[in-house]
Amino acid sequence: MKFLIHTYGCQMNVRDSEAVEALMIAAGHQTVATESEAEIVIVNSCTVRQKAEEKAVGKSGNLIAAGKITGMMGCAVKRMGGDIFKRLPKLHFAVGPRAFGMIPKIISDGVYPILETGEDTVPTGMDAHTETSWQSFVTVLLGCDNRCSYCIVPDVRGHEYSRPAKEIIAEVQALARRGVKEVCLLGQSVLRYGIRNKAWDDDTKEPFVRLLRELNEIEGLERIRFTSAHPKGCTDELIRVYNECPKVCRHLHLPVQSGSDRILSEMGRRYTRSEYLAAVDKLRSFDPEFSVTTDVIVGYPGETECDFEQTRSLMEEAGFDNSFVFKYSPRPGTRSAALCDDVPTAEKERRDQVLLSDQEIRGQRRNNRLIGTVREVLFEGPSKRKSDRYSGRDSGNRIIVWDKPEQCEQVPVLGQKLKIRVTHAHPQILIGECL
Ligand code: 5AD
Ligand code: SF4
Repeated sequence: MKFLIHTYGCQMNVRDSEAVEALMIAAGHQTVATESEAEIVIVNSCTVRQKAEEKAVGKSGNLIAAGKITGMMGCAVKRMGGDIFKRLPKLHFAVGPRAFGMIPKIISDGVYPILETGEDTVPTGMDAHTETSWQSFVTVLLGCDNRCSYCIVPDVRGHEYSRPAKEIIAEVQALARRGVKEVCLLGQSVLRYGIRNKAWDDDTKEPFVRLLRELNEIEGLERIRFTSAHPKGCTDELIRVYNECPKVCRHLHLPVQSGSDRILSEMGRRYTRSEYLAAVDKLRSFDPEFSVTTDVIVGYPGETECDFEQTRSLMEEAGFDNSFVFKYSPRPGTRSAALCDDVPTAEKERRDQVLLSDQEIRGQRRNNRLIGTVREVLFEGPSKRKSDRYSGRDSGNRIIVWDKPEQCEQVPVLGQKLKIRVTHAHPQILIGECL
């Protein structure tokens, strides 16, 4: 049958959708580009904030009304459980984030409605990939055991489970043989790879670092990224890997969430402001251009103006290359949901705007330093905003665009390595010329 997948949420969901697409194709189904052509539509849902969940549920409602066979997968399914059929009585199937491997069978059985929330299972199809891109996500660590007070992820994605290193290496080797140039290893707290369960046959001390070293040897592969990280994982061994393994990209997404020690402790983040800043310093110690990006929550219960100013000043001290700001949203069943959500929406909005405008200034300043430097860039095709420009990213995950050559020179292939000299800088983007 003809199918389409809509994906909401994080990279983990993007990866799960890709696996489902590959499994569906293997089962004889066909991907289509538009909803109108599709007979089956699968909505991969997120629940990290209330709004995200509503989008996925709303979308599914519309699809049902349009007469499609509609299924939901992902985090909102696990959070809502059977209630999902109260909201959407005509939904055909609902599958939790660790049960997506069942989708092809559910469709071939055709017995609806059906709910498979899955528990701490490892889905079949973890290594299933479509053949469409030069870059690929690879999930290495499922679930999360960090119980941050505000976060629904551990409830919906289950306990941590590290996939065996052998399996991951084989998967990346196969991707590289197929022409994949860049992989991004995924885990909610990816530096905890191999800690809760063994990933290697022996007692390797730093299982994630070892994985990076082994992947660095794979022929044809150009770049290795990974996300997300926790400062506790920024060990000396990790710093050594950045230094010694040229394929490991010099960028880390290191969510800080708050700059106030009081709020950090209430959140259960297990680090202080100064420990966090020490991790950032360590990352930049061998390369001042090392790119550090972050997530921040504004309006956590009880967050005062003073706490917020602490966040502002931490962000300045850390000199983030980019940041993502989220307005606190209470999630049912989390520890912080029992607290009064006392920061008014308008104040959350104001704090959000303040941090965004700080980041504009900081991003401009960080990027100005790169003017005149030559970046090694992997080609990503025409720029999304201006089609007369090409675009790519450097090792620090910075977007760089440059003018297409006027003469019909050979178009670079996707994922090709190019050298671009930076001529202008903006807060979120670099402009350059191809050498
Ligand atoms: N409210 C707002 N933001 C949240 N995040 C996680 N849980 C919540 C919540 N309840 C943010 C964090 C995390 C990012 C993916 O989403 O900043 O790093
Ligand atoms: Fe949530 Fe914390 Fe796990 Fe990140 S590390 S997903 S914030 S519980």
